[in-house]
Amino acid sequence: MENLSRRKALTLGVALGLAGAAAPVPVWASAGPAAGTAGTGALTEAGAGAAAGPGPEWIWDDAADPLMARMIEGGHVPAINRAWESWVNNNDPIPGGLPSDFAAYLTQVNRLPSWADQTKLARAADFNRRRDTYLFMLYGLGSGIMSTVIPREAKSVYWSAGGADMQDRAAKTFTFGYDLSELGAFKPTGQFVVTANKTRVVHAAVRHLLPQSPHWKAVADESIPISAADILVTFHSLGTYVHQKLLEWRIPYPAADQEAFLHMWQVAVHLLGVPYEHIPKTWAEALAQSRQVLTPVLSPSTEGIRLAEDLLGLTAQVDLGVTRGFLNEFVRYVLSDQVGDWLGLRRDYAAAALVRTAWPAFILFREGLSPVMPSTFYMFDQFIRALAMLFLNKGSSGTTTPITIPTGNRPG
Ligand code: HEM
Repeated sequence: MENLSRRKALTLGVALGLAGAAAPVPVWASAGPAAGTAGTGALTEAGAGAAAGPGPEWIWDDAADPLMARMIEGGHVPAINRAWESWVNNNDPIPGGLPSDFAAYLTQVNRLPSWADQTKLARAADFNRRRDTYLFMLYGLGSGIMSTVIPREAKSVYWSAGGADMQDRAAKTFTFGYDLSELGAFKPTGQFVVTANKTRVVHAAVRHLLPQSPHWKAVADESIPISAADILVTFHSLGTYVHQKLLEWRIPYPAADQEAFLHMWQVAVHLLGVPYEHIPKTWAEALAQSRQVLTPVLSPSTEGIRLAEDLLGLTAQVDLGVTRGFLNEFVRYVLSDQVGDWLGLRRDYAAAALVRTAWPAFILFREGLSPVMPSTFYMFDQFIRALAMLFLNKGSSGTTTPITIPTGNRPG
């Protein structure tokens, strides 16, 4: 049984481009938390070396969780959501009208860690700009749909308030990706530090709310959602997955870009509250961790199947220039047929053949590696633009969707 599931995981890993040569694996399968320790505090910084305390599966967010429990119980969330609407840029002052302990928390966390390297972050921003098409497709259709076969994530997303309106949720998540990928994202005039801190607070609220959902409790295999380990799993479904795909697709991707892209994600994951010592230091370490903690957990769930259908169904509202069969096959192409089968994505063999030949040709032409413009070039181009518009502003014109703290769960 053990061997069977290991083999399954490995096959899937190969399909997703997540498997590879063995690299040193950081210690994860640690014992439970020492008596009386709920976690190690989320603001640990600077070279703590190998994790000596509890593993990330026993770490949530000591700084934000108790605070958000108080904010929710005290009925302060609607006021916070109103007050922080205008809090957007990294150098905006902490807004007025917030409960004082909440304002004090934001003042403490709304900064880059001391190890953040502005040179690497600037390079990452430039890389994001140069590679935006691939990143967009991979995050959107690869990572986005992969999140529906990470059962813990799918169950918490489905049963939290946002699960009832996937277009809104997808748009909010897109805000995160957009702010992260902006040219000056981490600069004082950028917006990512604020967006990451809003997200961290939303996760803290979810940790308080979801355990009160009878629906979530009936299907969850944990008592508190979104541990640091879960956040790292999601990081692998985003950053590590995309990194591997770019290599697999042979997109020009020099070492300095790779390093910068990793650094950007390290800072992002840290801003979400994951202690420094648990964040992979190299791509080799990230890949090893991904094989250990992401690949084996991928599997279908009732919630995940519904979320995937919701997400892919959204695109039916706008003309993407392609059919739903094409979309299904693109997802199969970037995530494997096994994932496509789990999610019940209807086959369209003509579209499958098209994707498998036209997408590599599209890449070669875009990269100047082939002078032949594929006849499908504009189809892909239109497809990408329409998807971007759909998620960026829900299909209408406007700006990104603001992130708000939920006050309850999905009713049923
Ligand atoms: C909310 C990003 C990890 C579950 C959010 C939001 C963002 C986000 C931007 C706010 C927008 C919204 O409300 O939808 C991320 C990133 C992660 C991560 C970048 C890791 C790198 C996780 C994990 C889980 C999770 C590991 C669960 C296992 C949720 C839930 C919400 C949420 C339930 C609240 C949705 C609601 O309002 O009901 N996340 N997340 N997230 N996230 Fe995450």
